[in-house]
Order: sequence, then structure tokens, then C-alpha cells
Amino acid sequence: MSYQLNKAVAYIKAGKIVAFPTETVYGLGADATNEIACQRIFSLKKRPLSNPLIIHVASLEQAERIGDFSEDAYKLGSLWPGPLTIVTTLKDKKSIANCALANLPTVALRVSSHPLALALINEAACPIAAPSANPSGYVSATLYEHVLEHFASQDIIALKAEDGCVYGLESTIVDVTSNIPVILRYGFIGVELIEAIVGKKVGSAANIHTIRAPGMLTKHYSTKIAIRLNAIHLQIDEIGLNFGESKLLGNYSLNLSEKGDLAQAASNLYAMLRQLDKYAENNSSIIGIAVAPIPLCSSLGIAINDRLKRAAA
Ligand code: TXA
Ligand code: MG
Repeated sequence: MSYQLNKAVAYIKAGKIVAFPTETVYGLGADATNEIACQRIFSLKKRPLSNPLIIHVASLEQAERIGDFSEDAYKLGSLWPGPLTIVTTLKDKKSIANCALANLPTVALRVSSHPLALALINEAACPIAAPSANPSGYVSATLYEHVLEHFASQDIIALKAEDGCVYGLESTIVDVTSNIPVILRYGFIGVELIEAIVGKKVGSAANIHTIRAPGMLTKHYSTKIAIRLNAIHLQIDEIGLNFGESKLLGNYSLNLSEKGDLAQAASNLYAMLRQLDKYAENNSSIIGIAVAPIPLCSSLGIAINDRLKRAAA
């Protein structure tokens, strides 16, 4: 085990916080069975206590000990390890810290494919509760440097990933606590794949009125500066975020993917939003980020547009 990982494992065991990479975004993790450690995540992020954390485990077997797996849950578990979170009914209330669950009778479980995430969970020998490693409401962190910007002054350890978080968008969340699975958050794993795996039509959070993913209803993933979507031209006091051949050119602009590749755009999205936000912070004449249209043609396009819509809300 590397020195870095060794130290991180010791931190988790001591009830402290470790930021670790997943294939989606960085997580800010603590021993999910330790109430005080989990409370510290909420205070570090300034996260509302009503917003539960995802519980990261290393295998389906470990997930089954925490959540009650229905037939649909088992089917979706075949996509693990991967960018998918499954919400099931909680088996044993005492197995996970209350605050991590926000007192809900359900639990969001995820097996990440990132080797550092898996090693951390296995070596610490406990489930790890982890939200994205950003202050509540701000853009998620996809690079080690992003995590340090927010939390370097705190007593945490951040594990450095060689290649960052390749997917760059948070996991798809599917709630399987009723007969019809419901997609609570869009991501790389799209509706078509989920429907093919469970063998039936699924619902979407857009059609339900109760708050099933508390974090999904509010303004989220936001930069400090305003965002304007589906922009065709750059206004004089704006900076631009392009996609493909769009031409939001002027003061300063970036391109999510010059070749118009949605996976590359997803991977770049948060780092570029952060870069533009920083530029605006240092240039008082800039009042907003204009974002070019991103095609809605696939589940990935839907996921990117979903994040942008919340960022601009
Ligand atoms: O890709 C990801 O999912 C990343 C990495 C670190 O795993 N994590 C992440 O966590 O995005 P966070 O906290 O930023 O988003 C988790 C979402 C929140 O909207 C929360 O409300 C929802 O999951 N959630 C957690 N537990 C839930 C539950 N029992 N029922 C419904 N939604 C739940
Ligand atoms: Mg988050």
C-alpha cells in the first residue's frame, strides 16, 4: 500500500475526512458508521442536514448487507462497479450513521470503479459516506487541485488521482424502492440501458412531486457568476463556453469539445466552469458566462444539460 493510501486509511479509521477520486467526481468521505465523522462532512461542505449522503461500498455483497435488494436492484447491480447509485430500502437502521441518511428509511449505495476508491474502502474495512467534494451548491471537483482549493486548510487528506476523474459528471441515481424504478439524477448510464436491464419502462424524478433526491430540486452545481444557456452570440460583458463549432468568442472563452464529443464535454465541464468563474472573479467587468447549446440527443447530452440548467437556475 502506498504511503498516501496508508495515511488515508488511518484517517478514515480515526473518524477523520478523506477526499478521494471516483471515476465521476471527487468524494469527501468518512466512515459511514461513525456519526461524528459524518457530521463533519456536513459542516465542511455547509451542506443542509436534510440532504443524505451516498454510501460507497466495494462490492455488491457489501451493499446487500446495508440495503434491501429487490430483483430490480440486483439487475442494476450488474452495472457495478460503475457510475451508478442505487437507492434501496435500508436493511438495518443501526448499520449507517443517522445523519448520513438524513433520517430517511432508504439508502443510496454506490460501487465506484476507481482503484483508489475501492482500495480505500477495502483497507478501511467500512462503508464510506461521501458527497461530492465541493462546498454545497458549488461546481463539483474533478481534480485534486479543486479539492485543495476548498479544503486544504482543514484537517483532511486528499488522495491524488493520476488522471483525475475521467467521466466528470456525478453518477446516475436510480430509486428502486417501488415497483417502477425512478431515475433521480441523470448521468452516463442512461434511461435506455437501465430500461433494457430491468426489462420495463422507468420513471423520472421530473414527474414526481415528493423530494426523493433532496439535492436535486435546488439550484446546484453553480458558479459564483451568472450563467446564460443556449447562447448564440457573446455579449460584451460575457465570457464563453463553447461546444463543437459554436462561436462564443471575445474576451475569453473555452471549448468543452472542439470535435463535438459529449463524453469529452462532460469530462471538461466542471474544470472549465471553475476556470471561467475564476477569470470572472479577477475581471470585474465580466458579468456572466454564456454557454453554447449542447445537443440533447443522448442520455449524456441530457445529463450535461440537466447540470447546466441547475447551474443557471
Ligand atoms: O458520482 C457521484 O455520485 C459522487 C461521487 C463522489 O460518488 N457523489 C455525489 O454525491 O454526487 P452528492 O452528495 O453530491 O449527491 C448525492 C445525491 C444528492 O442529491 C442526495 O440528495 C441523493 O444523492 N441521495 C442520497 N441519499 C439518498 C436517498 N436515500 N434517497 C434519495 N436520494 C438520495
Ligand atoms: Mg454534489
